[in-house]
Amino acid sequence: VRCESTRTDEPKTKRNLVDNASNLLTTLLSGGSVGSMPIAEGAVTDLFDRPLFYSLYDWFLEHGSVYKLAFGPKAFVVVSDPIVARHILRENAFSYDKGVLADILEPIMGKGLIPADLDTWKLRRRVIAPGFHVLYLEAMVKIFTDCSERTILKFEKLLQGENLGGRKTIELDLEAEFSSLALDIIGLSVFNHDFGSVTKESPVIKAVYGTLFEAEHRSTFYIPYWNIPLARWIVPRQRKFQKDLKVINDCLDGLIRNAKETREETDVEKLQQRDYKNLKDASLLRFLVDMRGADVDDRQLRDDLMTMLIAGHETTAAVLTWAVFLLAQNPSKMRKAQAEIDLVLGQGSPTFELLKKLEYIRLIVVEALRLYPQPPLLIRRSLKSDVLPGGHKGDKDGYTIPAGTDIFLSVYNLHRSPYFWDRPHEFEPERFLVQKESEGIEGWAGFDPSRSPGALYPNEIISDFAFLPFGGGPRKCVGDQFALMESTVALAMLLQKFDVELKGSAESVELVTGATMHTKNGLWCKLGKRGDVH
Ligand code: HEM
Repeated sequence: VRCESTRTDEPKTKRNLVDNASNLLTTLLSGGSVGSMPIAEGAVTDLFDRPLFYSLYDWFLEHGSVYKLAFGPKAFVVVSDPIVARHILRENAFSYDKGVLADILEPIMGKGLIPADLDTWKLRRRVIAPGFHVLYLEAMVKIFTDCSERTILKFEKLLQGENLGGRKTIELDLEAEFSSLALDIIGLSVFNHDFGSVTKESPVIKAVYGTLFEAEHRSTFYIPYWNIPLARWIVPRQRKFQKDLKVINDCLDGLIRNAKETREETDVEKLQQRDYKNLKDASLLRFLVDMRGADVDDRQLRDDLMTMLIAGHETTAAVLTWAVFLLAQNPSKMRKAQAEIDLVLGQGSPTFELLKKLEYIRLIVVEALRLYPQPPLLIRRSLKSDVLPGGHKGDKDGYTIPAGTDIFLSVYNLHRSPYFWDRPHEFEPERFLVQKESEGIEGWAGFDPSRSPGALYPNEIISDFAFLPFGGGPRKCVGDQFALMESTVALAMLLQKFDVELKGSAESVELVTGATMHTKNGLWCKLGKRGDVH
């Protein structure tokens, strides 16, 4: 990646666009309020045959890093340029809200941080962000290791069973396993509730998955029929969704009630001193209830918890899934990762201090997020008219966009941009290390570490918004370090014990996308003790 964000006028390559007889999009796109902006010309089938962001990538190479796209009655501005991204996410962040995303998520997350309007967001971010204090993260490492241990025990038991029949490997859907693991971790760390989903199914877990499924359906279904009066009573899937929401909300309300009833002054003191090690319950909910006292609004608290449950669960499960998918196709990198684990951990468990030394594992996680960003698109809507930074071909002064413009900021395009990355589609965690090894410079290749001294991972600041694994600006992920540590622990503990191979070919693993990128039919793998999988 080049450190200084430069403009991307001339595409180096052009990909073939599927070209069929339909020029419907062209008709829909002509005209519009964003002036001379290039307009994507593609087949409507592109939008339905494969995940949208693939087509957005082709159009990026064809039309440049800011272009206009419409489907159905809606028009979107698609941004794949770091300087424009920096402008929207950081420099002029408060001129934008979450637009379409908020419309979709509001029925589920209410006024939780992700969909929240700016006024609510300002209040809540100030309250929630301090909850992710470094000492809280340190205390959470124990939850990450305990939960990962449960998953590993489950695999070992399955392997023992299989060994009776003389086989040395088991076949299982690791995406489903990572989903359960991430759910258990988020339950314990955010509201001190053990879903136990690695080993059992419960009505609450089923309801969580039902709700996630509906959120995904809504994010890919362009006509919001669920807003039609009575739809929630008449349409069966909407009735089920309402039922699932009630199950989760009742569970969350119970946890909030319990946290309020068990509030103790001694715990408040420990929390004030960040003495998490001596707290029975170090969860974020305890922090939010204790530090704010009884005045905190239950509805808001529930929205915050629901947001964290969804934001922290799917994303982490997805990054682990794609990290394993990539490693399984690169056995030499898996060996390299295992060598680092053996050196740093031996047979022991990761601790907060040891985690810092698992650098290659951390870079595998980061590289998996480069190739499979979660979510692949960040969504914004302009609250007032704005001028996007210019410099593009035919656009020296920048495009003026009116209030109400919907924007897709394609993180996928940025992360695979041929203008910023060498071999952009290849899995190379080492790409971040080149400079460090060859030039003896502390930092990551192509990035300027002085922009963010002490950064734990190659982030948006040192890449000048060319790399956004956790977004950027004021609405950047509040759980970035949490997620990075959690994924590093889970991956390290898995590879410490097991080798993994894909069950079928890499091509047979179909990708689908809603809020996050995941597989269509699971990540089916062969798993065995190290040395037993060939
Ligand atoms: C926001 C990614 C894990 C909580 C975001 C955003 C991204 C992101 C890109 C910005 C969205 C935007 O600008 O529209 C990820 C990834 C994760 C992860 C890739 C895992 C690998 C977590 C975890 C939590 C969490 C574990 C909580 C425990 C949130 C919240 C926001 C957010 C509350 C909204 C922040 C705000 O608007 O102030 N996440 N996230 N995320 N994330 Fe994460």
